[in-house]
Amino acid sequence: MKSKITPIIGLQWGDEGKGKGVARIASSLSKNDLIVRFQGGNNAGHTIWHDAKCYVFHLIPSGVFGRAQIHLGAGMVIDPSALEKETKIIPREVSFLNRLTISPHAILVMPTHLLLDSVSEKVKGKKKIGSTGKGISPSYTDLTLRRALRVGDIFQNDFKKRYTILREEHRETLKKSFNHNVKKEELKERENNFWKGIKFLQSLQVMNSAEIVIKVLKKERKVFAEGAQGALLDVRFGHYPFVTSSHTIAGGVSTGLGVPPTLVGEAMGIFKAYVTKVGEGPFPTELGGEKSAIWCRDKNFTEEKTKFAHPDPNSQDEFEQGVALRRQGCEIGATTGRLRRTGWLDIPLLKYTISMNNATELVLTKLDVLDNFKKIKVCTHYIINGKKTSEIPFDISREKIKCIYKSFPVWSGKLSDLGAKLPSEALNYVKYLEKTLGAKIIYVGTGPEEHQVVERYW
Ligand code: IMP
Repeated sequence: MKSKITPIIGLQWGDEGKGKGVARIASSLSKNDLIVRFQGGNNAGHTIWHDAKCYVFHLIPSGVFGRAQIHLGAGMVIDPSALEKETKIIPREVSFLNRLTISPHAILVMPTHLLLDSVSEKVKGKKKIGSTGKGISPSYTDLTLRRALRVGDIFQNDFKKRYTILREEHRETLKKSFNHNVKKEELKERENNFWKGIKFLQSLQVMNSAEIVIKVLKKERKVFAEGAQGALLDVRFGHYPFVTSSHTIAGGVSTGLGVPPTLVGEAMGIFKAYVTKVGEGPFPTELGGEKSAIWCRDKNFTEEKTKFAHPDPNSQDEFEQGVALRRQGCEIGATTGRLRRTGWLDIPLLKYTISMNNATELVLTKLDVLDNFKKIKVCTHYIINGKKTSEIPFDISREKIKCIYKSFPVWSGKLSDLGAKLPSEALNYVKYLEKTLGAKIIYVGTGPEEHQVVERYW
């Protein structure tokens, strides 16, 4: 087979703008092409502007507005109620159910998985990792415990019985391990929604991921695997334990779809012109000192109040730059509504994720967010134990890291108003990144809408 799957992978901590990238690619695809999700669940939040309206998808592939087939792959965890609700936000005139298929191997997220997720995070106290609370970790845990319920099970006669047995096991765990007694009322509404969602799932076309992928590849048509989260959240190669529970990297495409790795081609890597992160964990280039966004959030501070309120006056300047990135980039979690932590671009981390994914084509998003900055900074190296390095240490959270930065001048005017040509300062910045990262930047995002992109190499 000449055609190969192209993984579309976030190269940072998620929220790189993959949704917009995939939606743009999808607009050029035909009904014989395919976009699949291969991991994760509704912890993802993919924001797409379509016909001047903003949509946030959590489960449905971002190609929904195109003509290509869309598939929810075997490596995913699916909350049936969330999926059913999500389909309702798609305008009536967009016919997608005839293009949508789902793998029988995908795992079902149960109402008790959501409880296990939130209760277990709560008891961790300061050690929490900042889960989205969507039941992702408990449902993948059930997969490896070999007791999870899968989409294919919903067509079996004993599904309700198996559901009840597993729910009771979860209740037992909640009681014994977390001292949380689940009352019937606590579950009632969630369970009603779950069964509504199951009914909806039963109406969908079920198909093995490998079967649909190979069928499309044999016809030499295109297959894109839309990653969720980002490479630094990969369960094994991210900043463990501050990670999600699936393989978010290109390697996950093969196991998430049940296809041989030889069918997975070079990846398209998506990264923002700066860095954001939701949840806890190390963040070497974070602006504003120790976890400023978390500090703001915990103090219940609004953006306005935080302006002159950072407790450490020495980092006030950086703090304000971090706030400006958050404000100009609208950096609020699409799934949880949490303020995102913000920082400068981190080259050592990008090199790490580019090589891990074999990302040979890059998409740089949200460059316009830097419009009004006095200068742009990029971390080129770390200093760890007095040594300059660009290697990523085994456990980044245990190291004291000092960042070395390079500064770039900023263009005048708004990139979104400047059309298809980047001003020289922006172009220099893009060329520097290409040279340093060793890969082509094929698109540069200059605004949230699908058309606000500068295409290069065409
Ligand atoms: P979980 O996937 O809900 O278990 O959360 C684990 C970690 O991944 C937390 O730090 C979350 O904030 C983060 N996370 C999960 N999904 C996303 C995403 O789509 N974008 C950014 N961060 C995410």
